[in-house]
Amino acid sequence: MDYKKAKTTFHKDFTVAHTDDRLYGSFLENLGRAVYTGIYDPGHPTADDEGFRQDVIKLIKDIRVPVVRYPGGNFVSGYNWEDGVGPKENRPRRTELAWSTIETNQFGLNEFIRWCRKAGTDPMMAVNLGTRGPEEARNLVEYCNHPGGAYYSDLRISHGVKDPHNIKLWCLGNEMDGPWQIGHKTAEEYGRTALETAKVMKWVDPTIELVACGSSNLNMPTFASWEATVLEHTYSHADYLSLHQYYNNTAQNTPDFMACTVAMDEFIRNVVSICDYVKAKTKSKKTINLSFDEWNVWYHSNEQDKKLPRWTIAPHQLEDIYNLEDAVLVGSMLITLLRHCDRVKIACLAQLVNVIAPIMTAEGGGVVRQTIYYPYLHASNYGRGTVLNGIVDSPKYDSKNYTDVPMLDCTAVLSDDEQELTLFAVNRSEDTPLLWQPVLHGFEGYKVLEHISLEGPDRYAVNTLEDPERVVPMKKAVDAKAEEFMLSPLSWNVIRLVK
Ligand code: AHR
Repeated sequence: MDYKKAKTTFHKDFTVAHTDDRLYGSFLENLGRAVYTGIYDPGHPTADDEGFRQDVIKLIKDIRVPVVRYPGGNFVSGYNWEDGVGPKENRPRRTELAWSTIETNQFGLNEFIRWCRKAGTDPMMAVNLGTRGPEEARNLVEYCNHPGGAYYSDLRISHGVKDPHNIKLWCLGNEMDGPWQIGHKTAEEYGRTALETAKVMKWVDPTIELVACGSSNLNMPTFASWEATVLEHTYSHADYLSLHQYYNNTAQNTPDFMACTVAMDEFIRNVVSICDYVKAKTKSKKTINLSFDEWNVWYHSNEQDKKLPRWTIAPHQLEDIYNLEDAVLVGSMLITLLRHCDRVKIACLAQLVNVIAPIMTAEGGGVVRQTIYYPYLHASNYGRGTVLNGIVDSPKYDSKNYTDVPMLDCTAVLSDDEQELTLFAVNRSEDTPLLWQPVLHGFEGYKVLEHISLEGPDRYAVNTLEDPERVVPMKKAVDAKAEEFMLSPLSWNVIRLVK
């Protein structure tokens, strides 16, 4: 088969930055079956005494998820956190307006924190700035983080939780620029509310970090001016600005789909510029970094979701079944985040279980790793350390919406002990193999340990409960001294070198 050649030059001293572990975060919303019959299924054979599925926790631990955003998402903009604490029999059932379901509140704040501890992750808590404001947010911080001796901390203690949760990372609402959001706001309205909320939250606990809402996606009509206005209000109290982005291949145009990360790259660069513009304008010494706290592929479930009846409990909502090409794009999104790890400190794959997720469960039954689980697994396990700034020389292609798209997308991460260098690479081409030569300066004596690849003859192949291992990583034959690697068409590649 004909192939093309690509080359990338890496130098040990030419670095981007050290990764923040929170780059490998995820997201659980009280939506669909993410919580109920996802992580929480009291009747399940693997459930522990609190109803947490151990088979699901095992898969989550394997991907080493450092932080999980909760409880939304759109859900949070109509949520009363008080509904989800205290005796379960007293908790109200509510109509949930973001997703037109019934929320039973049988899983709430304290259950989530206990689940986090068991899953080896930290919470990233969002406050409701849709229907609520500073008052409820500061009460929530007191409930979670104040040791005791005041109303809300004592309420927590009365609920059987003596020690404070000490939640460090908080989101100031969710997607407040979106007309679909409960309590949608203009940038001025949100900026003012976010600032006043941030002030009282930090007055309760000055050690917390806050994420202000950026645009819901790159195509929002208010993109850029929203970021600038919100930051002009909140610069003194916010620590991060959020980005959200989902991609789809509804048009079944794979070259165009694979090129989406060119736009993601530009999105990040633009938001960095806006943050630094406001830094200059406000004459601040502080740098605002980015929290890319919703990112993924999302479209497979759109049509079936339109047919769902309203007001049911834990329906099969947003249950995208991911194929091979989705996994390759997710790999490319991870590479994009890594290449920007000097400014992207937090990122959340949206979401974690059942809802547009790498892990799917059957109620009372099995669990399956979707295709997108694998690039997440590899990047989270091998992509922590110092990211190198590679100079890429790759053949390019044009697609419907993009020009000059490099066939090769890649990066490299050196582990802290410098014993391991991992190269991550995607071949975006749907039909042409790529012979890749990573030219490594400063890595004399490193040997190739393995070349892992996610690839296959059918780009639409998926993993299901019935056939859970149709798309799994393979190990390619490789020589320890190899200097060139063949990247199959539409493939995600992990090449590990050790000293
Ligand atoms: O992740 C699904 C939804 O996507 C979230 O609730 C919302 O924030 C975004 O629009």
